[in-house]
Parts: sequence; structure tokens; C-alpha cells
Amino acid sequence: MHQIVADARASGATVGCIPTMGYLHDGHASLIRAASKKHRLVVVSIFVNPTQFGPSEDFERYPRNLDHDLKVVAEAGGAVVFAPTVEEMYPDGARSTIHIPQISEILEGASRPTHFDGVATVVSRLFEAMHPDEAFFGQKDLQQTLVIEHMVSASEIDDVRNVTVTVLPTQREHNGLARSSRNVYLTAEDREDATAIYRALTGASEKMADGENSRANIEAAMRRTLDSVSGLTVDYAVAVEASTLQTKDLFISGEQVALLIAVRLGRTRLIDNMVVKMP
Ligand code: PAF
Repeated sequence: MHQIVADARASGATVGCIPTMGYLHDGHASLIRAASKKHRLVVVSIFVNPTQFGPSEDFERYPRNLDHDLKVVAEAGGAVVFAPTVEEMYPDGARSTIHIPQISEILEGASRPTHFDGVATVVSRLFEAMHPDEAFFGQKDLQQTLVIEHMVSASEIDDVRNVTVTVLPTQREHNGLARSSRNVYLTAEDREDATAIYRALTGASEKMADGENSRANIEAAMRRTLDSVSGLTVDYAVAVEASTLQTKDLFISGEQVALLIAVRLGRTRLIDNMVVKMP
């Protein structure tokens, strides 16, 4: 990987990368297309990272299909695919990990306590391997993108600290469901139930457009929509300040507010979000 990047750089290319866990979908394809417009060398990493899964989570059953992924990459315009093994990424057995305080400890971090340490650690290692100028991520994992931005700006490693992190809009299915590799777990009934997530987000954002600025009222509106679906259990449905994910009672005009939802549908956990500017 180092040699490929060094050769490309020597010929004047810049490098864009898309870190993924594979089972690629249209959301990943849109990131590949965006990276290709800006960079001559595009690298897609495919690595199901064990350290970001909790002991009772879906690491073993997480969908994997390299042939499918190579097709998606080719159809999106092509890229170098970097698919390392666990031993290559963690030759030391992951004895050193990166912890980003505060932002890693709330919301997803409260529900999945070691998750963001695994994400920050592997993304730092992937950046060291791929040495990109720019890395592209989807907004669906909004909190993850904030953790990665903090990790990059705090890094003492040049190949990591100099990476520009670019976040692009969530890609959705025709019914609003955010594209995710984990959607493959959903039954037809789950998929129908899952549409409540997008309805809750759009319903709340419409209320905000009409001037609703109370956190309690915005969150209650999202809850009402989600609670009307019996197969769905809400983990959280919150309205928070978008750059820090900190809670506050009233939002002011012009403020960017993140609406964040996490639910369980059977054994599947889904997250989604929308960022809304208070009118
Ligand atoms: O979003 C993902 O697919 C993963 O969390 C990432 C960023 C590739 C790290 O393993």
C-alpha cells in the first residue's frame, strides 16, 4: 500500500480514501465517485474491524462479500482496494488504543462503550497505511465523523494529522431508509417499520422550520412517531447542538441542530440523523 501511494505521489497524484467495512452500497459508491472527482488515486479500504464491536455485537455475522465489493468499486469508477487482515492491522494485538474523551462517551458511546476507541484506533492506522490527502465519510455516522475529526486534529502522526476529513450526505432508499450494510439483516416487515425513523426526522425538522425551538418538544415529536411502531425500540431520539452533540433546552436562530436517532428492530440496531439549521 505504501509503495502504491508513494509511486502515485511521485507522479504528482493526490490521494483520496474511503475507509469502509465492506458490503458496499450506493452510499459508498457516492463517496468513491466524489473522491474520484478530486483525486487521481482513490483507495477504498475494506476491513471489518473487530475492535469496534462489543462482545455481544455482530462482528461474526457482519456481512462480508469481497466479490460484490469489487464490483461496486468498479461500477463507481474504480479504485485501489486495500483489504488487510486482522493480523496486518493489529500486529501488536491492538495493545495501544486511541480514546477521544467526551464526544466518544455520549449517545452511541454510552450504548456501545468501546466502539469509538476501536473506530479512532483503526482509522488512525488506516490513514498511516493509505497516507491520504483527504478521507471521505457518510453523514449517516455523524458522531463517528466528529470522533474522527477530533482524532485527526489531536494526532501526533503527520500522515494522520494532515488528512482532510470530508463528510458527504447520507444516501437513502426510495422510502427514506438510510443506506447501511446492516440493512441486509432487515426482514420486509422490519424495513416497513424502519421508515418511521426518516418520518420522525423529517417531521421534527418541519416543526423546527415552523419555529419550534424547544428541545423537549422536538424530541417528544420524534418519540411519538417512533413509539407508534410496536416492533421498534428506541435507544435514543435527541436534538443536540450539531458540532459538539451537547444538549441544550432552547435552540437559537441560525444554530445547526443535529437530530439523532438510534433504534432496535429485532436483533438489528439502526442509527440515522439529520442536521437542521434553526430558521
Ligand atoms: O463506518 C465504517 O464503516 C467504520 O466505522 C470505519 C470508519 C470504516 C472504521 O472501521
